[in-house]
This record gives sequence, C-alpha cells and structure tokens, in this order.
Amino acid sequence: MELTPGLRRDAGPDLDAVGQDDALVARIEDEIGRAGPIAFARFMELALYDPAGGYYRAAAARPGHDGDFLTAPETHPIFGAALARGLEEVWEHLGRPDPFVLREYGAGTGTLALAILERLELDGSGLARVIRYDPIEVEPRRLQTLAERLGALGRSDFMFDPGSSGQTIVGAILGNEVLDALPTHRVVVRDGRLLEILVGSRDGRFTDVEAAPTTPALAARLADEGIALADGQRAEICLDLEPWIAHAATGMERGLLLLIDYGYPAPELYDPVRRRDGTLRAYLRQRVHDDPYRHIGRQDLTAHVDVTAVERAAAAAGLVHLGTTTQAEFLVGLGTQELLQAIQADPATTLEVYLAVRSAVMRLLDPGAMGRFRVMGFARDWADGPPLAGFAYRLGAR
Ligand SMILES: C[S@@+](CC[C@H](N)C(=O)[O-])C[C@H]1O[C@@H](n2cnc3c(N)ncnc32)[C@H](O)[C@@H]1O
Repeated sequence: MELTPGLRRDAGPDLDAVGQDDALVARIEDEIGRAGPIAFARFMELALYDPAGGYYRAAAARPGHDGDFLTAPETHPIFGAALARGLEEVWEHLGRPDPFVLREYGAGTGTLALAILERLELDGSGLARVIRYDPIEVEPRRLQTLAERLGALGRSDFMFDPGSSGQTIVGAILGNEVLDALPTHRVVVRDGRLLEILVGSRDGRFTDVEAAPTTPALAARLADEGIALADGQRAEICLDLEPWIAHAATGMERGLLLLIDYGYPAPELYDPVRRRDGTLRAYLRQRVHDDPYRHIGRQDLTAHVDVTAVERAAAAAGLVHLGTTTQAEFLVGLGTQELLQAIQADPATTLEVYLAVRSAVMRLLDPGAMGRFRVMGFARDWADGPPLAGFAYRLGAR
C-alpha cells in the first residue's frame, strides 16, 4: 500500500479526532487482564479482524484515493487491464478451460476483478465469456457491494456459482496485498537471545513486553532461513503464511497462484542495518507511522512479506515456482506501456484522462513506490512452456 500522491502530509486531517474503537480496546485489555501479555499476532488479529470493531470489518472499505492508503488496483484500472493480459496467457496455457475460475483473496469490493473483466470484454477475448469470479473476503458487506456493482453492469453471471465455492478450481488464484495484512509475531534480540515482543497493558495504554517466545516456531523459521538477527534488532515473523498458502494451494486443481505484496527475500527483509527496526507500519488517512497502539480499529497495520518463506511454503504445498519478480518488471512484461500508448492514441481520450493514467502507470512502475512490490507466481499441474510474459521481462535485460 502507498499514500495517494499529491496530498499534503503536513496539513492533513486531525488524527487525534479519529480516535479509536473504545469497545475493541476494552476487549483487548480484558484478554490481557485474564491471560497476561498476548502475542502481537493476536493483537493484530483483533485490531484488524475482530468482527465487531476490527479495521477490516468496518462498514466501508478504506483503500482508495479518499481512504487510508492506496493499493495498485485502486490506483487505476490499467493495473487490472495488464493482469487481464496475464490471465489470458494463463487461460491459453491451460488449454482454454471453461469455466476458468478467478479466485481472489482479499477481493474487497471487486475493483481489480471489474477492471480485469472490462479489459477482457474490450479486447473481445474469449476468456470474457468463460471466466467466473470467486471473491473471498473476511467482511461479507464487501461482497454485497461487489454483487451490486456487478448487477449494475448487468454482469451478475460473472460470479462463480456460490454453491460450489470452496471447491477446487481450474484457473487462477490472486492475492494482492493480502499477505502483508496477515497477523504477525514480533521479535527482538537481547544479549544474543531471541525474545518475543508481546503486547501488555499499563496505565491504560498498550505497551511492548519483551519475553521468552510463546512458540519455538519463531526461532525455527529464522534458523531454517539461515537468519541470525543482530543484537537489538527487531523483526516480524508471520507464522500464518504457511497455513494460508497451504489452504490456497489446496483449492487449486490446475492453474496459477499469483501473490503481489511488499516483501523481500529473508536476507534482505532481516538485514541488520537497513531493517533494524522491522517493517511494521500503521496507515491512517493517508499517513504512515509506526505506532500500532494508536487508533485501534481505525488504522491499518501491515508488515512486509518474507518472500523466502512464501516460496518455501508454496513448494511444501506441492506448487511449482514460476517466478518472482518486481511489480515494475511484471507490468512492463505484460505490456502496460502498450496499453498506455493505445489510450494515448485513442481520439476519445481527453488530456485529463491521459495524464491520470500516465501518472498512475509511473506510480505502479516506480521502484520507489509500488514498482518495488514483489510478484510471486506458483502453479499446479503446469505443462512446460515458455515463461509467462510477466516473469520473462527483466529491467536492463534488453
Ligand atoms: C490491504 S487490503 C487489499 C485489498 C485489495 N486486494 C486491494 O489490493 O485493494 C487487504 C484485504 O485482505 C483481506 N483479507 C485479509 N485476510 C484475508 C483472508 N485470510 N482471506 C481473505 N481476505 C483476507 C482484508 O479483509 C482486506 O480486504
């Protein structure tokens, strides 16, 4: 996620007025009062997903130009248009299955899927007729909004048969900025010892409490990856990655699993100099800061994804690794610049529309913004063939 460009950071909304969800805070305090300090992953689970007060359970979704942060699909439909090209390639590779199911985790209100569908229809692609969408979200109200959006377009038939949801699919599984929203543990090294950063409560405020790890899985993950954190270094370890990927992979009979997120391979993610304080961040009203204990239930929490752990989990789930690249390379490989040129050449395109799409493309490709996201592709039952265009392109390679 990123902040909407052009907003003044110094004169934004009064964040103190945003407050917090007091009832949720009381429930978390209660849990700590009963059980003692809790793992940060449990705190994050409640702060984001508590059914009555979690950030992602609010009445309205908050990504978007007017929300708390911007994701690639919300930046501009050209992101979905580029992915539509990639999906068409996958459909061809699989032998044009009918139906071709697009299962999207963290679907939100379907912005990405609608952009994909629109592009396929504009291109007159055969995939537009056979693609069926299976959105997966924690908040049911998002799916209602999505159904309304599709109904307004007269494309309710785009939805996968809900009665068969949960079955294994042939097609593609997508997750854009989902893994970075999974609850994560936090650790720190003191005098050569790995400690876990738990969440305690003192004087009506949540605080970090350094204690012996609540699970040996934390040290095991670092050891498996050959990572030794430096003294004083803080880091996040997301233990939900493996079960999440195993679950997603189980749902795929044949096809592609595509994951897009902030992240780095373990040696970079846990670099003792560049990431000494970890990557946990809070997003609120187009501001980013690093205090997870403010605005509880009203701000997003996120931590960068361990790409090494994702790749290992996918291999353990029986998937073949098709490639890991940056979003910039992936989008260039999919022909985003040609899409932009076609928009420019269209006589119906106004200057305003062209400038908006051009600035969105710059942002999606910019290595200092969304261009540095990692795109990870894995497949099941995948015939040998040339690499997918999105994974074939390397900046500087031509
Ligand atoms: C940062 S938002 C990204 C939304 C959307 N994919 C986008 O790019 O704009 C993360 C989304 O993932 C959803 N999410 C988190 N964990 C999930 C899970 N296990 N299954 C499905 N959705 C999940 C959240 O509810 C939220 O809508």
